[in-house]
Amino acid sequence: MFRINENYLKLPGSYLFSTIGKKVGEYSSANPDKEIIRMGIGDVTLPLCPAVIERLHSAVDEMSRQETFMGYAPDLGYEFLRNAIVENDYKARGCDISADEIFVSDGAKSDSGNIVDIFAEDTKIAVTDPVYPVYVDSNAMSGRTGAYDEAAEKWSGVIYMPCTSENGFVPELPRETPDVIYLCFPNNPTGTTLTTEQLQVWVDYALKVGAVIIYDGAYEAYITSENVPHSIYQCQGAEACAIEIRSFSKNAGFTGTRLGFTVVPKALKCGGVSLHALWARRHGTKFNGAPYIIQAAGAAVYSPEGRKQTGEQIAYYMNNAKVIREGLIGAGYDVYGGVDAPYIWMKTPEGMKSWDFFDYLLEELNIVGTPGSGFGPSGEGYFRLTAFGSAENTVKAMERIKAGKA
Ligand code: MLT
Repeated sequence: MFRINENYLKLPGSYLFSTIGKKVGEYSSANPDKEIIRMGIGDVTLPLCPAVIERLHSAVDEMSRQETFMGYAPDLGYEFLRNAIVENDYKARGCDISADEIFVSDGAKSDSGNIVDIFAEDTKIAVTDPVYPVYVDSNAMSGRTGAYDEAAEKWSGVIYMPCTSENGFVPELPRETPDVIYLCFPNNPTGTTLTTEQLQVWVDYALKVGAVIIYDGAYEAYITSENVPHSIYQCQGAEACAIEIRSFSKNAGFTGTRLGFTVVPKALKCGGVSLHALWARRHGTKFNGAPYIIQAAGAAVYSPEGRKQTGEQIAYYMNNAKVIREGLIGAGYDVYGGVDAPYIWMKTPEGMKSWDFFDYLLEELNIVGTPGSGFGPSGEGYFRLTAFGSAENTVKAMERIKAGKA
C-alpha cells in the first residue's frame, strides 16, 4: 500500500492567493453587476513591452527554421542571457558575480520553493513575519518544520522575526540560531526596504553563525531610494553566505511567460562542499530549462529599448503606488511601503481583523486586497494593496475608499 507525504496534511487550507481567488469568484458570481477592482495578487497588467515582443516573434521564427532551431537549453541557461544578467544586474553595481554562478529558471517562485532540496532535513529556518508564504509552505511540505498551530497562526520549529510598525519593519537578529534565513527586500508584503548597512548586519551575522541567507530580490527594479541595495552581493562577504533569487515577472511583466534566475556563488560552501555543485546537480536532474524563446525575450529586457520600455512600465506602476499611498493617507490610514516597492501595506481601521477588512473592502467597496494575516501572525491588523492595476482603476479604488462606498 502506498503512503503519501504526510507533511502535506499539516498544511493549513489552501495557498493564500487560491483562497482569495475562490472568495472573489464566489462574490462575483453572486453579484455579476458589481465592478470589482483587483488589487490582491501582485500580478502585472501591462502587456509585454515592444522590445520583448519583437524578440519573442523573431525567436519563434528561429524555431521554425532548421538552421536556427533550438532544442534543450543548456543546464544553467543560455550564455547570452547569463552574460546580460552579469553585466547589468551585477557588474554595473560592483558585484563580483560570474555567468557560471547564474542558474536561469522558470521563475523566482519555483526556485524559492525548490531551494530547500539542497539543505539537510533538520534545517532550521528563520523567516520575517509577515512573509511570502512560499518559503514556509515549501519547508513544511518537505518536513523541515514542526506542526501548524491554527490559533497562533504559526509553525513550530520555525523562527519568526516580526516586522511591524513598532520596529520600522526591520527584523531583529534572532535569539535562536537558524541554519537558513529567508530575506526578501524590497519586501513582499510590506513594501519596505533595508539600507545597505542594515543588510550588512545580516550578512555579518550569517557569516558568524554559519547560516545561509536566501535573498529574494524579485522587486529590486522598484527601488527609488539611495542607499537601498539592489543585490545582497553589494554587501561585503555575501558571496560566502547568500543565494540570491531574481525574477523577470515584476520588472518586465513575465508573470505569464515565466523567467527568473538564482545566483549560487562558488564561494558558498558547507564544510568542503560547494552549494553551487549541489544546485547544479538538482537543476540538471529536475529541470530542463526555460524555453529558448523566453530566454531570448529575457535578454531583450537588457537591450537599450528594453531597459527604457520596462523602466516606463515600472514608473507607471510606481505612479499608482503614489496614488494609493496618498489616497490612503488622505483617508486617514497608517500607510507603509509603496516608495521602493509596488506594494502598499496599511493598518486596518480601528484594529479590525485583516480578513474582516478584506470582506468589508470586497462587499462594500468592491475592491480586492490581501489580508495581512495571510502572510503570518504579525500581519494581523494589516492589509496589502498592489500598484499593479491600471491607473484608471487605481484612482477609482481610492475614490471608493475615500467615499466609503463603491
Ligand atoms: C504576491 O502577490 O505576493 C505575488 O504575486 C506572489 C508571487 O509573485 O508569486
